[in-house]
Amino acid sequence: MTSTSIKTVGVIGTGVIGASWTALFLAKGLRVIVTDPAPGAESKLHEYLKKNCWAIPNKITTPDKYLQNLTFVEDIDPYLGELDLIQENGPERLDFKRRLFAHLDAKTPEHVLIASSSSGLPSSEFVTDCERSPSRILIGHPFNPPHLIPLVEIVPHPKTGDEHVTAACEFYRSLGKDPIVVKRETSGFIANRLQAAVCAEAYSLISRGIVSAEDLYKTMTSGLGLRWAFSGPIMTNLLGGGGDFGHFMDHLGPAMKSWLDNMHQHQFDMDSTTEKENLKEKVNQLVSHVNIEKTEKDRDIFLTGLISARSEI
Ligand SMILES: NC(=O)c1ccc[n+]([C@@H]2O[C@H](COP(=O)([O-])OP(=O)(O)OC[C@H]3O[C@@H](n4cnc5c(N)ncnc54)[C@H](O)[C@@H]3O)[C@@H](O)[C@H]2O)c1
Repeated sequence: MTSTSIKTVGVIGTGVIGASWTALFLAKGLRVIVTDPAPGAESKLHEYLKKNCWAIPNKITTPDKYLQNLTFVEDIDPYLGELDLIQENGPERLDFKRRLFAHLDAKTPEHVLIASSSSGLPSSEFVTDCERSPSRILIGHPFNPPHLIPLVEIVPHPKTGDEHVTAACEFYRSLGKDPIVVKRETSGFIANRLQAAVCAEAYSLISRGIVSAEDLYKTMTSGLGLRWAFSGPIMTNLLGGGGDFGHFMDHLGPAMKSWLDNMHQHQFDMDSTTEKENLKEKVNQLVSHVNIEKTEKDRDIFLTGLISARSEI
């Protein structure tokens, strides 16, 4: 299967992630058949599409037109034979995904690629009951919102076929995404592990009163995050080492080791109710006045500008 042979996509689950994938697929001219059993899911999806489709880079059609390519169905089973790829976005629960994937594998023609948006459950844990063709199943993990953020983590399980990994990369690339392949399953994959490391330290610094939630926000948005958006942590090290990564490691490595040792001594305890309540109180001072709808809109304007600036370099 090549990306050009993928013309009809099935979207399972139209919550936060499924709605955004649907917007992207439609904007890129694909036919999309979606399902979600939640009451009001269809009108909520239409509302979402109307609000968000403006932001998709390199749209090939207008929102009004591309809604003609959308079919919302109560039961996707009768349509499985029409699909070229399925993007699953149901709840992040092992029992749910295990049942769903066994069903999809049994009912869907073998050439159909099946990708799960799972944020951290490796697919080897939920293909266990797939008897027909589990080799076409993999993770295609997007980042919120998938219609804007280019990264998609492709995570095969040990029995996923290489040809399916290649097809998934080609497909996401054809939509303007920037896929990476995670070579071996690991919980949380790559980006969420990096994010967890940074968040754990942020939680520790805020809850110990070393920095306010507001100043931590500025540390990222006016400092680290800006640089990382351009050069990522390793290239940032390279530039900090005057173009020599080895020099950076020799020069700042010992200091970094002492910071890491200190961080290990002061780890935020995710199991402690007291620590979590203390953190929530401090974070609420920053977030209680945030208008979520406006912030999401501002985020999308910012991301669109940033992605466009990056593509011009
Ligand atoms: N929210 C994020 O930032 C994010 C980012 C990347 C990946 N993901 C992953 O994407 C997936 C979906 O997450 P979400 O945040 O969109 O969750 P969500 O709760 O917003 O959406 C899940 C949707 O699945 C629907 N659903 C439940 N049973 C279903 C069924 N049998 N068939 C079809 N739909 C069904 C629900 O009604 C709901 O609308 C999860 O695996 C999650 O780990 C989430």
